[in-house]
Amino acid sequence: MKSKSLVSINQCSKEDILRILENARKFEENPNRKILEGKVAATLFFEPSTRTRLSFETAINRLGGRVIGFQDASTTSSSKGETLKDTILMVSNYVDLIIMRHYLEGAARYASELTDIPIINAGDGANQHPSQTLLDLYSIQQTQGKLTDLSITMVGDLKYGRTVHSLIAGMSHFNPTFHFVAPDELRMPDEYKNFCDQSGIKYYEHTDFTEEIINQSDILYMTRVQRERFTDLEEYERVKNVYILWNKMLENSRENLRILHPLPRVNEIAYDVDDSPKAYYIQQARNGLFAREAIICEVLGINHLI
Ligand code: CP
Repeated sequence: MKSKSLVSINQCSKEDILRILENARKFEENPNRKILEGKVAATLFFEPSTRTRLSFETAINRLGGRVIGFQDASTTSSSKGETLKDTILMVSNYVDLIIMRHYLEGAARYASELTDIPIINAGDGANQHPSQTLLDLYSIQQTQGKLTDLSITMVGDLKYGRTVHSLIAGMSHFNPTFHFVAPDELRMPDEYKNFCDQSGIKYYEHTDFTEEIINQSDILYMTRVQRERFTDLEEYERVKNVYILWNKMLENSRENLRILHPLPRVNEIAYDVDDSPKAYYIQQARNGLFAREAIICEVLGINHLI
């Protein structure tokens, strides 16, 4: 990677992505390697998280480093009015790496411009979630045996969903075909469709979530309608349960189909899908540990995985 921070998946070349995935595979073989001994990382979470924070913190622990940070900014001096700039400058005094999630789009990039300490974007508003994309790519590669020429159907909140926005960019190196399934209120923004057009990527938009679409997919990427992104809660109530995947809808799906979801889920995947061999979302979250170990090594310039 050109920058030592990871603020956007767009900064990763195809070679960067393949190298990180190869290192993730090595970490899956052995996640416990004392590479970060003597190093301290900070996890600064201005928005709630279960998987991203805990898998990053597990990754640091398994690599022999130490973690400081917060999961609730209301317990920090931000609640007294301290700016993000001052918070980043303070934490930079103490640590070797900052992993941050923030509700403002561009917050991680801004932070990376303030400090020489590497910043990993753990999600910035509706913009990007690059570490999720790398674990998604790892999951796709592991389940399909390849990344190229796949049909990927994204379902749900495609307007505010930072995971789908990042995944489009991450997959753009691998000749995907996308199906975007969303209600009119949550359609994929023009910015990402324009990116597909400019990159020669085929995509189709749908408002109905049909078995016909499922049956031509290799990956079904379900997403949650995110209550926290809506300013109009009546609109949220109208669309919150618009698509629900039931096990019976998978009857004629491809053998290789795998169902991914960045999680948390609310109602969009029925619990009867969990027993399907095509359900992969729990393993996907587990892959987050291996991908994040690889990402930490990448931003810290550690090439030798002892
Ligand atoms: N996928 C994801 O970002 O999950 P969390 O919000 O639990 O971190």
